[in-house]
Amino acid sequence: MYLGLDFGTSSVKGVLIDDRQKIIGTASSPLKVSRPHDGWSEQKPEDWWKAAHAVVKTLRKSKPKAIAAVDGIGLSGQQHGATLIDKAGHVLRPCILWNDARSFQECKDILAREPRALAISGNIPLAGFTAPKLVWVKKHEPRVFDAVDKVLLPKDYIRYRMTGEFASDMSDSSGTYWLDVAKRQWSDDLLRATDMRRDQMPRLCEGTDATGRLTAAVAKAWGMPKRPVVAGGGGDNAASACGIGAVTDGAAFVSIGTSGVMFVSNDRFSPNAARAVHAFCHAVPDTWHQMGVILSATASLEWLAGVLRTPAPQLTKALGTKLSGPSSALFLPYLSGERTPVGDAQVRGLMMGLGHETDARTMTHAVLDGVAFAFRDSLVALQDAGTSVKRVMAVGGGTKSELWLRIIATALGVPVDLPASGDVGGAFGAARLGLMAATGASYRSVCTPPKIARTIRPEAKARAAYEDAYGRYQRIYPAIKEINRP
Ligand code: XUL
Repeated sequence: MYLGLDFGTSSVKGVLIDDRQKIIGTASSPLKVSRPHDGWSEQKPEDWWKAAHAVVKTLRKSKPKAIAAVDGIGLSGQQHGATLIDKAGHVLRPCILWNDARSFQECKDILAREPRALAISGNIPLAGFTAPKLVWVKKHEPRVFDAVDKVLLPKDYIRYRMTGEFASDMSDSSGTYWLDVAKRQWSDDLLRATDMRRDQMPRLCEGTDATGRLTAAVAKAWGMPKRPVVAGGGGDNAASACGIGAVTDGAAFVSIGTSGVMFVSNDRFSPNAARAVHAFCHAVPDTWHQMGVILSATASLEWLAGVLRTPAPQLTKALGTKLSGPSSALFLPYLSGERTPVGDAQVRGLMMGLGHETDARTMTHAVLDGVAFAFRDSLVALQDAGTSVKRVMAVGGGTKSELWLRIIATALGVPVDLPASGDVGGAFGAARLGLMAATGASYRSVCTPPKIARTIRPEAKARAAYEDAYGRYQRIYPAIKEINRP
């Protein structure tokens, strides 16, 4: 038996699988985000640990024998969060999360101190990443900064509580901005640019490596007498890719969740820092991936649902499922700034082309189009770095809208595959990594794609109108970036 634990932003999820990767049980426990100031986003690491206990407890209640037979555990989680630990292993302050925007100035500080940063990392520093957060802590909370003995990503803090080990896999570590991603090692130059040291970093490993065993105390509390090994695991997107079988060159998926991700697996390092592509190591050896990240995907639709006081499913239902062309309005989904392709934490969204006739349906359609165009922007940025994408798999809550899937297929110009039922998310991918760490099985044999339930193809009749609308969408940001600030 193998357990995957995914430390998401809104919940911790657990998936238990057997030797043949059949799902034996799933459980989850909710988490809250605290927003003490505008643009800030924090969580208490102790809450993740309590939620992990709750997940294991639920699974143990329904499947006590399966839990007692666990040989390997894999971890996946929200990336980039800065969990600061002192010499005694105590947490120094709440974790500053991936969607916290406070450190945009500190990104500029890093570039000023290390002009070769883009070349070393292959990425531009973004406010969400870990390194600029530490520059902020040094400026604003110097006592905390001086006490930092280790900086851990969320799932790696849990590993520390589970095993007593400080370790991190390559995919998650890529999102710190301290990694030389091409070489798969810490960069002393990037560490120096933020006044950090190598000894403050965890040991690096591949996601499929074993990093230690559950401590006797945790094994007892969780009812796992075999003291399972804990795999390196992966950042949530890389772990999801392991779950969905996107581990071979060109295999791609779009995740239509609160935030949106366009993910492609690569057999070589393929950066495009100028367009804010995230070029990271994959969670499996000798493999990299590229990612375009859209900060507000279903979050854009939820925003409109809030404004119109109508639940999002009702808004999309009112549009039907036929697609004849784009909305007459254009929407830029930069509600909390944007990562790919603009890397701009301060810009904000807009809706244009409004007339007296504009109603809730037109606005809903514009939001669905705008998010699809943001995915297209990411695809273009990935293609500019030499990647070829022939089709994409779609996952996440947004896939419930048939119309949205059609819009995305049409805006991207590639078929969109929907996996047959079954859990293919980060927790499942993490369970697969746990299996590989425990058995030594190869990722090519374990990380196979799921069955495809159906394929949504671009709508030929709407394609030209969508190309035209995308052309206009692309011209919005350069035209408004100087005046569209909070
Ligand atoms: C990736 C990213 C998010 C988080 C939270 O760069 O910031 O996907 O991992 O899910």
